[in-house]
Amino acid sequence: MHAVNSHDTNKFLFGLSSLTRYNVHMTQRSDFPDDFLWGASTASHQVEGNTHNQWTEWEFSHAETLARTAQKRLGWLPHWHDFKAQAENPKNYISGEGIAHYQLYEHDFALMTKLTMNAFRFGIEWSRVEPREGEWDQAAIEHYREYIRVLKAHNITPVVTLWHWTMPTWFTDKGAFAKRANLRYFDRYVQKVIELLGDEMRFVITLNEPNVYAGLSYQMGEWPPQIKSNATFMRVFYNLMLAHKRAYRIIKDARPELQVGVAAQLANMQAASPQNPVNRLVVAARAYAWNWWFLNRIQKHQDFIGLNYYFTEYIDWRGKMRNPKTPTSDLGWYMEPTGISRLLQQVGARYKQPIIITEDGLADHDDKQRQWWLQETIDALHDARQHGVNLQGYLHWSLLDNFEWAYGWWPEFGLIHVDRKTMQRTVRPSAQWFSEWLTRH
Ligand code: BGC
Repeated sequence: MHAVNSHDTNKFLFGLSSLTRYNVHMTQRSDFPDDFLWGASTASHQVEGNTHNQWTEWEFSHAETLARTAQKRLGWLPHWHDFKAQAENPKNYISGEGIAHYQLYEHDFALMTKLTMNAFRFGIEWSRVEPREGEWDQAAIEHYREYIRVLKAHNITPVVTLWHWTMPTWFTDKGAFAKRANLRYFDRYVQKVIELLGDEMRFVITLNEPNVYAGLSYQMGEWPPQIKSNATFMRVFYNLMLAHKRAYRIIKDARPELQVGVAAQLANMQAASPQNPVNRLVVAARAYAWNWWFLNRIQKHQDFIGLNYYFTEYIDWRGKMRNPKTPTSDLGWYMEPTGISRLLQQVGARYKQPIIITEDGLADHDDKQRQWWLQETIDALHDARQHGVNLQGYLHWSLLDNFEWAYGWWPEFGLIHVDRKTMQRTVRPSAQWFSEWLTRH
Protein backbone atom coordinates (compact mmCIF):
# COMPACT_ATOMS: atom_id res chain seq x y z
CA MET A 1 0.00 0.00 0.00
CA HIS A 2 1.40 3.40 -0.74
CA ALA A 3 0.79 6.45 1.34
CA VAL A 4 -1.57 9.05 -0.10
CA ASN A 5 0.41 12.23 -0.58
CA SER A 6 -1.01 15.66 -1.26
CA HIS A 7 -0.29 15.32 -4.98
CA ASP A 8 -2.42 12.17 -5.14
CA THR A 9 -5.16 13.85 -3.13
CA ASN A 10 -5.25 16.76 -5.56
CA LYS A 11 -5.43 14.41 -8.48
CA PHE A 12 -8.25 12.54 -6.80
CA LEU A 13 -10.20 15.70 -6.04
CA PHE A 14 -9.64 17.03 -9.54
CA GLY A 15 -10.84 13.71 -10.92
CA LEU A 16 -14.01 13.96 -8.86
CA SER A 17 -14.82 17.50 -9.90
CA SER A 18 -14.37 16.69 -13.58
CA LEU A 19 -16.66 13.70 -13.17
CA THR A 20 -19.79 15.66 -13.92
CA ARG A 21 -23.10 13.91 -13.81
CA TYR A 22 -23.04 13.81 -17.59
CA ASN A 23 -20.14 11.46 -18.06
CA VAL A 24 -21.04 8.77 -15.57
CA HIS A 25 -23.91 7.59 -17.79
CA MET A 26 -26.12 5.99 -15.19
CA THR A 27 -29.41 6.82 -16.88
CA GLN A 28 -31.63 3.84 -17.57
CA ARG A 29 -34.57 3.51 -19.88
CA SER A 30 -36.71 2.93 -16.79
CA ASP A 31 -35.90 6.54 -15.77
CA PHE A 32 -38.28 7.54 -18.58
CA PRO A 33 -42.00 6.77 -18.83
CA ASP A 34 -43.04 3.54 -20.56
CA ASP A 35 -44.79 5.41 -23.35
CA PHE A 36 -41.78 7.66 -24.08
CA LEU A 37 -41.13 7.78 -27.84
CA TRP A 38 -37.72 6.39 -28.78
CA GLY A 39 -36.83 6.39 -32.43
CA ALA A 40 -35.37 8.22 -35.38
CA SER A 41 -36.22 10.73 -38.12
CA THR A 42 -35.99 11.09 -41.88
CA ALA A 43 -37.35 13.47 -44.55
CA SER A 44 -38.94 12.49 -47.87
CA HIS A 45 -36.51 14.14 -50.28
CA GLN A 46 -33.47 12.92 -48.36
CA VAL A 47 -34.31 9.21 -48.50
CA GLU A 48 -37.11 8.31 -50.92
CA GLY A 49 -35.35 8.62 -54.25
CA ASN A 50 -36.77 9.82 -57.58
CA THR A 51 -38.54 12.85 -56.22
CA HIS A 52 -39.25 15.71 -58.55
CA ASN A 53 -39.45 19.05 -56.77
CA GLN A 54 -37.64 22.40 -56.76
CA TRP A 55 -34.59 20.83 -55.07
CA THR A 56 -34.30 18.13 -57.75
CA GLU A 57 -34.15 20.81 -60.43
CA TRP A 58 -31.66 22.88 -58.49
CA GLU A 59 -29.42 19.85 -57.99
CA PHE A 60 -29.18 19.35 -61.76
CA SER A 61 -28.39 22.97 -62.46
CA HIS A 62 -25.90 23.38 -59.57
CA ALA A 63 -24.04 20.07 -59.16
CA GLU A 64 -21.10 21.18 -61.33
CA THR A 65 -20.63 24.46 -59.47
CA LEU A 66 -20.92 22.83 -56.06
CA ALA A 67 -18.26 20.26 -57.02
CA ARG A 68 -15.95 22.93 -58.47
CA THR A 69 -16.17 25.15 -55.39
CA ALA A 70 -16.00 22.33 -52.81
CA GLN A 71 -12.34 22.82 -51.89
CA LYS A 72 -12.87 26.54 -51.36
CA ARG A 73 -15.95 26.05 -49.21
CA LEU A 74 -14.98 22.92 -47.30
CA GLY A 75 -11.18 22.63 -47.51
CA TRP A 76 -10.89 23.91 -43.93
CA LEU A 77 -12.70 20.88 -42.47
CA PRO A 78 -10.43 18.65 -40.36
CA HIS A 79 -11.27 15.47 -42.32
CA TRP A 80 -11.42 17.14 -45.75
CA HIS A 81 -8.99 14.61 -47.28
CA ASP A 82 -11.36 11.75 -46.36
CA PHE A 83 -14.23 13.03 -48.46
CA LYS A 84 -12.49 15.33 -50.96
CA ALA A 85 -12.99 12.88 -53.84
CA GLN A 86 -16.70 12.65 -53.12
CA ALA A 87 -17.21 16.37 -52.54
CA GLU A 88 -15.47 17.22 -55.82
CA ASN A 89 -17.62 14.83 -57.82
CA PRO A 90 -20.78 16.44 -59.27
CA LYS A 91 -22.69 13.18 -58.67
CA ASN A 92 -22.40 13.82 -54.94
CA TYR A 93 -24.90 16.67 -55.37
CA ILE A 94 -27.66 14.69 -57.09
CA SER A 95 -30.24 13.05 -54.82
CA GLY A 96 -31.20 10.66 -57.66
CA GLU A 97 -32.20 7.22 -56.45
CA GLY A 98 -31.93 8.42 -52.86
CA ILE A 99 -31.52 5.39 -50.66
CA ALA A 100 -34.56 3.78 -52.29
CA HIS A 101 -36.57 4.11 -49.11
CA TYR A 102 -39.72 4.54 -51.24
CA GLN A 103 -39.32 0.87 -52.21
CA LEU A 104 -37.42 -0.51 -49.21
CA TYR A 105 -39.49 1.02 -46.42
CA GLU A 106 -40.76 -2.28 -45.08
CA HIS A 107 -37.20 -3.54 -44.76
CA ASP A 108 -36.26 -0.29 -42.95
CA PHE A 109 -39.19 -0.61 -40.55
CA ALA A 110 -38.11 -4.18 -39.77
CA LEU A 111 -34.65 -2.83 -38.91
CA MET A 112 -36.24 -0.32 -36.56
CA THR A 113 -38.15 -3.09 -34.84
CA LYS A 114 -34.90 -4.99 -34.47
CA LEU A 115 -33.41 -1.90 -32.89
CA THR A 116 -36.44 -1.77 -30.52
CA MET A 117 -37.55 1.68 -31.60
CA ASN A 118 -41.19 2.65 -31.09
CA ALA A 119 -41.48 5.92 -33.07
CA PHE A 120 -40.50 7.16 -36.51
CA ARG A 121 -40.60 10.57 -38.13
CA PHE A 122 -40.92 10.69 -41.92
CA GLY A 123 -42.21 13.06 -44.57
CA ILE A 124 -45.02 13.15 -47.07
CA GLU A 125 -43.69 14.55 -50.32
CA TRP A 126 -46.04 17.27 -51.59
CA SER A 127 -44.64 17.02 -55.14
CA ARG A 128 -45.70 13.36 -55.31
CA VAL A 129 -49.17 13.89 -53.89
CA GLU A 130 -49.96 16.94 -56.04
CA PRO A 131 -47.55 16.79 -58.98
CA ARG A 132 -49.68 19.24 -61.00
CA GLU A 133 -51.75 22.03 -59.54
CA GLY A 134 -55.02 20.63 -58.21
CA GLU A 135 -54.33 17.07 -59.48
CA TRP A 136 -53.99 14.44 -56.79
CA ASP A 137 -51.94 11.38 -57.51
CA GLN A 138 -53.95 8.43 -56.30
CA ALA A 139 -51.02 5.99 -56.46
CA ALA A 140 -48.85 8.27 -54.30
CA ILE A 141 -51.63 8.65 -51.76
CA GLU A 142 -52.14 4.89 -51.68
CA HIS A 143 -48.41 4.45 -51.23
CA TYR A 144 -48.38 6.63 -48.11
CA ARG A 145 -51.49 4.93 -46.74
CA GLU A 146 -49.83 1.55 -47.07
CA TYR A 147 -46.55 2.96 -45.73
CA ILE A 148 -48.18 4.18 -42.52
CA ARG A 149 -50.22 1.01 -42.19
CA VAL A 150 -47.07 -1.15 -42.40
CA LEU A 151 -45.24 1.13 -39.97
CA LYS A 152 -48.05 0.77 -37.44
CA ALA A 153 -48.12 -2.98 -37.97
CA HIS A 154 -44.54 -2.88 -36.66
CA ASN A 155 -45.83 -1.16 -33.50
CA ILE A 156 -44.08 2.06 -34.42
CA THR A 157 -45.82 5.39 -33.81
CA PRO A 158 -45.85 7.64 -36.90
CA VAL A 159 -44.70 11.25 -36.61
CA VAL A 160 -45.61 12.74 -39.99
CA THR A 161 -43.99 15.84 -41.51
CA LEU A 162 -46.09 17.62 -44.15
CA TRP A 163 -43.41 20.03 -45.39
CA HIS A 164 -39.67 19.48 -45.12
CA TRP A 165 -38.50 22.25 -47.50
CA THR A 166 -39.38 20.54 -50.80
CA MET A 167 -42.31 21.65 -52.96
CA PRO A 168 -43.84 20.92 -56.37
CA THR A 169 -42.26 23.10 -59.03
CA TRP A 170 -45.64 24.56 -60.05
CA PHE A 171 -45.82 26.02 -56.54
CA THR A 172 -42.27 27.40 -56.51
CA ASP A 173 -42.86 28.81 -60.02
CA LYS A 174 -45.62 30.90 -58.49
CA GLY A 175 -43.18 32.26 -55.89
CA ALA A 176 -43.78 29.70 -53.09
CA PHE A 177 -44.08 31.24 -49.62
CA ALA A 178 -42.73 34.60 -50.71
CA LYS A 179 -46.31 35.45 -51.79
CA ARG A 180 -49.09 35.57 -49.24
CA ALA A 181 -51.68 34.64 -51.89
CA ASN A 182 -49.92 31.29 -52.36
CA LEU A 183 -50.79 30.12 -48.85
CA ARG A 184 -54.10 28.83 -50.16
CA TYR A 185 -52.24 26.12 -52.11
CA PHE A 186 -50.54 24.91 -48.97
CA ASP A 187 -53.90 25.01 -47.13
CA ARG A 188 -55.42 22.83 -49.83
CA TYR A 189 -52.55 20.32 -49.73
CA VAL A 190 -52.83 20.04 -45.94
CA GLN A 191 -56.60 19.65 -46.15
CA LYS A 192 -56.29 16.89 -48.73
CA VAL A 193 -53.61 14.91 -46.89
CA ILE A 194 -55.56 15.04 -43.63
CA GLU A 195 -58.79 14.10 -45.37
CA LEU A 196 -57.18 11.10 -47.10
CA LEU A 197 -54.63 9.94 -44.54
CA GLY A 198 -55.49 11.65 -41.27
CA ASP A 199 -57.22 8.58 -39.86
CA GLU A 200 -53.82 6.81 -39.79
CA MET A 201 -51.98 9.64 -38.05
CA ARG A 202 -51.28 10.74 -34.49
CA PHE A 203 -48.47 13.33 -34.44
CA VAL A 204 -48.35 15.82 -37.31
CA ILE A 205 -45.56 18.28 -37.98
CA THR A 206 -46.73 20.99 -40.36
CA LEU A 207 -43.36 22.62 -41.11
CA ASN A 208 -39.75 21.65 -40.62
CA GLU A 209 -37.38 24.41 -39.46
CA PRO A 210 -38.93 27.47 -41.09
CA ASN A 211 -36.01 29.59 -39.78
CA VAL A 212 -33.37 27.48 -41.53
CA TYR A 213 -35.29 27.36 -44.80
CA ALA A 214 -36.10 31.08 -44.88
CA GLY A 215 -32.53 31.96 -43.83
CA LEU A 216 -30.63 29.76 -46.28
CA SER A 217 -32.98 30.20 -49.24
CA TYR A 218 -33.85 33.90 -48.97
CA GLN A 219 -31.22 35.63 -46.81
CA MET A 220 -27.92 33.80 -47.29
CA GLY A 221 -28.77 32.89 -50.89
CA GLU A 222 -27.29 29.41 -50.56
CA TRP A 223 -30.32 27.21 -51.24
CA PRO A 224 -32.92 27.44 -53.98
CA PRO A 225 -34.11 29.97 -55.05
CA GLN A 226 -30.84 31.60 -53.84
CA ILE A 227 -32.23 35.00 -53.00
CA LYS A 228 -30.26 37.37 -50.78
CA SER A 229 -32.73 39.84 -49.41
CA ASN A 230 -33.59 40.64 -45.82
CA ALA A 231 -37.01 41.90 -46.83
CA THR A 232 -37.90 38.70 -48.71
CA PHE A 233 -36.48 36.60 -45.90
CA MET A 234 -38.76 38.32 -43.39
CA ARG A 235 -41.76 37.98 -45.66
CA VAL A 236 -41.16 34.26 -46.16
CA PHE A 237 -40.60 33.68 -42.45
CA TYR A 238 -43.77 35.60 -41.63
CA ASN A 239 -45.81 33.76 -44.25
CA LEU A 240 -44.58 30.40 -42.97
CA MET A 241 -45.80 31.39 -39.52
CA LEU A 242 -49.22 32.12 -41.04
CA ALA A 243 -49.09 28.90 -43.05
CA HIS A 244 -48.56 26.93 -39.87
CA LYS A 245 -51.42 28.63 -38.03
CA ARG A 246 -53.79 28.02 -40.92
CA ALA A 247 -52.67 24.40 -41.25
CA TYR A 248 -53.16 23.91 -37.52
CA ARG A 249 -56.77 25.10 -37.77
CA ILE A 250 -57.46 22.97 -40.85
CA ILE A 251 -56.09 19.84 -39.18
CA LYS A 252 -57.80 20.39 -35.83
CA ASP A 253 -61.15 21.16 -37.45
CA ALA A 254 -60.99 17.92 -39.41
CA ARG A 255 -59.41 15.74 -36.73
CA PRO A 256 -59.25 17.25 -33.25
CA GLU A 257 -57.53 14.15 -31.88
CA LEU A 258 -54.33 14.73 -33.88
CA GLN A 259 -51.36 16.28 -32.07
CA VAL A 260 -49.99 19.11 -34.19
CA GLY A 261 -46.76 21.10 -33.99
CA VAL A 262 -43.73 22.34 -35.94
CA ALA A 263 -40.18 21.01 -35.87
CA ALA A 264 -38.24 24.05 -34.70
CA GLN A 265 -34.50 24.25 -34.98
CA LEU A 266 -33.38 25.89 -31.75
CA ALA A 267 -29.83 26.61 -30.65
CA ASN A 268 -28.53 26.59 -27.10
CA MET A 269 -27.09 30.12 -27.19
CA GLN A 270 -24.79 31.18 -24.39
CA ALA A 271 -22.89 34.39 -23.66
CA ALA A 272 -19.14 33.80 -23.98
CA SER A 273 -18.72 36.16 -20.99
CA PRO A 274 -21.89 35.64 -18.97
CA GLN A 275 -20.89 38.29 -16.42
CA ASN A 276 -20.96 40.95 -19.16
CA PRO A 277 -24.50 42.44 -19.41
CA VAL A 278 -23.95 43.66 -22.99
CA ASN A 279 -22.96 40.15 -23.99
CA ARG A 280 -26.07 38.76 -22.35
CA LEU A 281 -28.23 41.28 -24.18
CA VAL A 282 -26.68 40.43 -27.54
CA VAL A 283 -27.36 36.73 -26.93
CA ALA A 284 -30.94 37.42 -25.84
CA ALA A 285 -31.60 39.38 -29.05
CA ARG A 286 -30.11 36.61 -31.17
CA ALA A 287 -32.12 33.94 -29.34
CA TYR A 288 -35.30 35.97 -29.78
CA ALA A 289 -34.87 36.20 -33.53
CA TRP A 290 -33.74 32.61 -34.11
CA ASN A 291 -35.43 30.60 -31.36
CA TRP A 292 -38.43 32.42 -29.96
CA TRP A 293 -39.99 34.75 -32.53
CA PHE A 294 -41.76 31.97 -34.43
CA LEU A 295 -42.73 29.89 -31.39
CA ASN A 296 -44.09 32.96 -29.57
CA ARG A 297 -46.47 33.58 -32.44
CA ILE A 298 -47.81 30.06 -32.79
CA GLN A 299 -48.18 29.31 -29.08
CA LYS A 300 -51.94 28.94 -29.28
CA HIS A 301 -51.66 26.92 -32.46
CA GLN A 302 -49.69 23.89 -31.35
CA ASP A 303 -50.21 20.84 -29.16
CA PHE A 304 -46.54 20.05 -28.72
CA ILE A 305 -43.19 21.56 -29.60
CA GLY A 306 -40.94 19.60 -31.93
CA LEU A 307 -37.35 20.50 -31.15
CA ASN A 308 -34.42 19.88 -33.49
CA TYR A 309 -31.11 20.23 -31.68
CA TYR A 310 -27.63 20.37 -33.19
CA PHE A 311 -25.97 23.52 -31.91
CA THR A 312 -24.62 25.06 -28.75
CA GLU A 313 -23.22 28.50 -29.53
CA TYR A 314 -21.00 30.66 -27.37
CA ILE A 315 -21.45 34.20 -28.63
CA ASP A 316 -19.40 37.23 -27.59
CA TRP A 317 -20.61 40.81 -27.08
CA ARG A 318 -19.95 41.65 -30.74
CA GLY A 319 -22.18 38.79 -31.82
CA LYS A 320 -19.20 36.63 -32.91
CA MET A 321 -19.17 32.89 -32.36
CA ARG A 322 -16.57 31.79 -29.81
CA ASN A 323 -17.04 28.03 -29.72
CA PRO A 324 -14.29 25.70 -28.49
CA LYS A 325 -12.29 24.22 -31.39
CA THR A 326 -13.12 20.63 -30.40
CA PRO A 327 -14.91 18.30 -30.47
CA THR A 328 -16.39 18.68 -33.94
CA SER A 329 -18.40 16.43 -36.26
CA ASP A 330 -17.45 15.58 -39.86
CA LEU A 331 -19.19 18.81 -40.90
CA GLY A 332 -16.97 20.83 -38.54
CA TRP A 333 -19.92 21.58 -36.24
CA TYR A 334 -18.90 22.08 -32.61
CA MET A 335 -20.53 19.33 -30.51
CA GLU A 336 -21.94 19.83 -27.05
CA PRO A 337 -24.72 17.23 -26.80
CA THR A 338 -25.53 18.05 -23.17
CA GLY A 339 -26.50 21.59 -24.25
CA ILE A 340 -29.89 20.08 -25.04
CA SER A 341 -30.77 19.98 -21.33
CA ARG A 342 -30.36 23.72 -20.87
CA LEU A 343 -32.33 24.38 -24.04
CA LEU A 344 -35.12 22.02 -23.02
CA GLN A 345 -35.40 23.78 -19.69
CA GLN A 346 -35.67 27.15 -21.43
CA VAL A 347 -38.33 25.90 -23.86
CA GLY A 348 -40.20 24.14 -21.08
CA ALA A 349 -40.25 27.24 -18.89
CA ARG A 350 -41.29 29.56 -21.72
CA TYR A 351 -44.11 27.56 -23.29
CA LYS A 352 -45.16 24.93 -20.75
CA GLN A 353 -46.13 22.55 -23.51
CA PRO A 354 -45.11 18.96 -24.19
CA ILE A 355 -41.86 18.64 -26.15
CA ILE A 356 -40.64 15.96 -28.51
CA ILE A 357 -37.07 15.98 -29.79
CA THR A 358 -37.79 15.61 -33.50
CA GLU A 359 -34.11 15.68 -34.57
CA ASP A 360 -30.74 15.47 -32.84
CA GLY A 361 -27.56 13.95 -34.19
CA LEU A 362 -24.24 14.32 -35.97
CA ALA A 363 -22.39 13.56 -39.20
CA ASP A 364 -19.97 10.79 -38.24
CA HIS A 365 -18.86 8.55 -41.06
CA ASP A 366 -16.55 6.42 -38.88
CA ASP A 367 -19.11 6.14 -36.07
CA LYS A 368 -16.40 7.20 -33.62
CA GLN A 369 -18.45 9.78 -31.74
CA ARG A 370 -22.10 8.74 -32.12
CA GLN A 371 -22.28 6.48 -29.09
CA TRP A 372 -20.70 9.17 -26.93
CA TRP A 373 -23.19 11.70 -28.34
CA LEU A 374 -26.11 9.36 -27.58
CA GLN A 375 -24.93 8.64 -24.05
CA GLU A 376 -24.42 12.30 -23.21
CA THR A 377 -27.77 13.14 -24.77
CA ILE A 378 -29.72 10.50 -22.88
CA ASP A 379 -28.28 11.76 -19.58
CA ALA A 380 -29.15 15.32 -20.57
CA LEU A 381 -32.73 14.36 -21.47
CA HIS A 382 -33.10 12.71 -18.09
CA ASP A 383 -31.63 15.79 -16.43
CA ALA A 384 -34.16 18.03 -18.22
CA ARG A 385 -37.04 15.78 -17.12
CA GLN A 386 -35.72 15.89 -13.54
CA HIS A 387 -35.99 19.67 -13.84
CA GLY A 388 -39.66 19.32 -14.67
CA VAL A 389 -39.56 19.48 -18.47
CA ASN A 390 -42.47 17.65 -20.07
CA LEU A 391 -40.36 15.79 -22.62
CA GLN A 392 -42.21 12.99 -24.38
CA GLY A 393 -39.87 11.59 -26.97
CA TYR A 394 -36.47 11.46 -28.62
CA LEU A 395 -36.05 10.93 -32.37
CA HIS A 396 -32.46 10.73 -33.53
CA TRP A 397 -31.38 12.28 -36.83
CA SER A 398 -31.15 10.13 -38.71
CA LEU A 399 -32.30 6.53 -39.05
CA LEU A 400 -30.30 6.08 -42.27
CA ASP A 401 -27.49 7.84 -44.12
CA ASN A 402 -29.22 10.25 -46.47
CA PHE A 403 -28.93 13.16 -48.90
CA GLU A 404 -27.62 16.11 -46.88
CA TRP A 405 -28.99 18.96 -49.03
CA ALA A 406 -26.33 21.24 -50.54
CA TYR A 407 -23.53 19.10 -49.03
CA GLY A 408 -24.81 16.08 -50.92
CA TRP A 409 -24.07 12.51 -49.94
CA TRP A 410 -20.78 12.58 -48.07
CA PRO A 411 -22.00 13.63 -44.58
CA GLU A 412 -23.33 10.49 -42.90
CA PHE A 413 -25.87 11.04 -40.16
CA GLY A 414 -27.30 7.51 -40.09
CA LEU A 415 -27.62 5.14 -37.17
CA ILE A 416 -27.70 2.75 -40.10
CA HIS A 417 -25.07 3.00 -42.83
CA VAL A 418 -26.24 2.73 -46.43
CA ASP A 419 -24.08 1.56 -49.30
CA ARG A 420 -25.59 3.46 -52.21
CA LYS A 421 -24.31 1.08 -54.86
CA THR A 422 -26.08 -1.95 -53.42
CA MET A 423 -28.54 -0.09 -51.15
CA GLN A 424 -27.34 -2.49 -48.47
CA ARG A 425 -28.13 -1.32 -44.92
CA THR A 426 -25.65 -1.98 -42.07
CA VAL A 427 -26.46 -1.19 -38.47
CA ARG A 428 -23.64 0.92 -37.02
CA PRO A 429 -22.13 -0.10 -33.65
CA SER A 430 -23.55 3.06 -32.00
CA ALA A 431 -27.06 2.01 -33.08
CA GLN A 432 -26.44 -1.42 -31.67
CA TRP A 433 -25.40 0.18 -28.41
CA PHE A 434 -28.54 2.38 -28.42
CA SER A 435 -30.73 -0.63 -28.99
CA GLU A 436 -29.04 -2.53 -26.16
CA TRP A 437 -29.55 0.47 -23.91
CA LEU A 438 -33.22 0.51 -24.88
CA THR A 439 -33.67 -3.16 -23.99
CA ARG A 440 -31.52 -3.19 -20.83
CA HIS A 441 -33.48 -3.17 -17.58
C1 BGC B 1 -32.77 19.21 -41.17
C2 BGC B 1 -32.40 17.92 -41.83
C3 BGC B 1 -30.88 17.87 -42.02
C4 BGC B 1 -30.23 17.94 -40.66
C5 BGC B 1 -28.72 17.85 -40.66
C6 BGC B 1 -31.87 19.62 -40.04
O1 BGC B 1 -31.67 20.98 -40.07
O2 BGC B 1 -34.11 19.22 -40.80
O3 BGC B 1 -33.08 17.81 -43.04
O4 BGC B 1 -30.46 16.78 -42.73
O5 BGC B 1 -30.58 19.15 -40.05
O6 BGC B 1 -28.17 18.97 -41.27
